[in-house]
Amino acid sequence: MSKISLTHIQKMKQNGEKIAMITAYDATFARLFDDEGVHSILVGDSLGMVVQGHNDTLPVTVDDMVYHTANVARGVQNALLIADLPFMSYSDIQSACINAGRLMAAGARMVKIEGGDWLCETVKQLNRNGVPVCAHLGLTPQSVHLFGGFRIQGRDAQRAEEIYHHALALQAAGAQMVVLECVPEQLAERITKALRIPVIGIGAGVRTDGQVLVMQDAIGITSGYVPKFSKNFLAETGDIRKAIRLYVEQVANGQFPAAEHTFN
Ligand code: KIV
Ligand code: NA
Repeated sequence: MSKISLTHIQKMKQNGEKIAMITAYDATFARLFDDEGVHSILVGDSLGMVVQGHNDTLPVTVDDMVYHTANVARGVQNALLIADLPFMSYSDIQSACINAGRLMAAGARMVKIEGGDWLCETVKQLNRNGVPVCAHLGLTPQSVHLFGGFRIQGRDAQRAEEIYHHALALQAAGAQMVVLECVPEQLAERITKALRIPVIGIGAGVRTDGQVLVMQDAIGITSGYVPKFSKNFLAETGDIRKAIRLYVEQVANGQFPAAEHTFN
């Protein structure tokens, strides 16, 4: 599994090749996405919403993440497999290590954590134990109740500076990747240029090193509210395999995300 290594993904940034990431929660979709050339598959704690039907990601447990990571891992041959540490499972360094260890043992090749420079020691300790870390910044859904809703981050100069400095600090601590969610395109571009590690955007415009989408959004089967930044690739293709191929293609050639999916 995961023949595409972190080194490969990092080289893609250096070569200016765009990275296509998508979420998966089971072996069937994971295998299909892998077959169609997605570079990285994320077992997102978004599963709390799209699989379990909750209104946010907070109820997701480490056991849930381990279960879905193991299922996804069985379907993946090439893509770099990343798994989210869920809400409150990395609130101290020891918990972070124990829980990241479980995700890695289930087949993850990197773990993702939400938050800023206060996680630097956690990143260092995970790295010392052999665990690569992706830092998730901007709209971090585990903090939805702190933010007062799912809303764009970094529109004001002060918050933009904050996010920028968190990204630099986490890179310096050893983070190997950043996911940037729902920030203005200008801020995403500035961070992407400042970092040597890959920056993957969702609702962050086209100037990041790659894109990630929740799979249900990418094939247009999300019920209720559909975020502005997502696109239904199934509508144009009428076939799930072709839809995923089109997503990878449009990420690669910069057609996705378009202006209509982007915050300014
Ligand atoms: O949980 C998730 O699906 C995520 C992506 C939206 C980045 O964290
Ligand atoms: Na997540």
